[in-house]
Amino acid sequence: MPFYNDGALDKRQFVQKKFSRITRFYDLLNTILSLGIDHFWRWVTAKRLEDTGGIVLDLCAGTLPMSNALFKRSNFRGRILAIDFCLEMLKYGKERCSHQYLSLVCGDALQLPLKDKSIDAIVVAFGVRNFPDYLAGLKEMHRVLKPKGKAVILEFSRPTHPVFSAIYFAYLNYILPKIGGIISGDEMAYTYLSKSIQEFYTPKQWLKIMEKAGFENLRYRYLTLGIVSIYEGFKRSNR
Ligand SMILES: C[S@@+](CC[C@H](N)C(=O)[O-])C[C@H]1O[C@@H](n2cnc3c(N)ncnc32)[C@H](O)[C@@H]1O
Repeated sequence: MPFYNDGALDKRQFVQKKFSRITRFYDLLNTILSLGIDHFWRWVTAKRLEDTGGIVLDLCAGTLPMSNALFKRSNFRGRILAIDFCLEMLKYGKERCSHQYLSLVCGDALQLPLKDKSIDAIVVAFGVRNFPDYLAGLKEMHRVLKPKGKAVILEFSRPTHPVFSAIYFAYLNYILPKIGGIISGDEMAYTYLSKSIQEFYTPKQWLKIMEKAGFENLRYRYLTLGIVSIYEGFKRSNR
């Protein structure tokens, strides 16, 4: 039984509840816990979409840091539709990012309130790890993308260097949940973060699931010694 399942909550409910509790501390803790490197990760991710026009879906948008990173790109010509199932996170983000080409929708990534083939590109930063069903989430992304549309996913992975890995896992298991707990008042939310990172797929396994969902021309790139990875794939032109 997963550690978050206390008999009352499934993963979806658990995740929604945790993000609504930590909303006010989310951005601050990201900066503290990553030593500010999370801004760089989103900056590199935004670069993968900077030439995209049309509608870009920022899925699991949270407090909108990924939308902000995209709008900061001078070549970015798209309109952003930001979707998240945690209303508190979206509302908090909206107070800090009210761009004229930004629209917000509160909705579930596994049941997107969007028509088939209606979106030009999708970005998901630190969201897919939270899906209760990874393949279903990817298939839903694939459904709403236009043919040849691009999906870019930024997600935690695990470093491969043995010494760095040992230090990183000690940090994940013993330090990160404590700091997260002290500042946000919810240690469980940060224990979940740590465990979900350690339980998530390797990049090669993740690309296989993306392929199963219908994406092609897949590739990934490690950043910061493998702490995170950026994945890219395209919807096949004939689907
Ligand atoms: C770790 S935060 C990432 C926020 C933001 N993208 C960023 O770069 O920091 C994960 C977000 O995904 C949202 N989320 C998780 N599962 C979701 C789902 N099934 N549908 C919609 N949003 C979801 C959470 O509410 C939370 O705001």
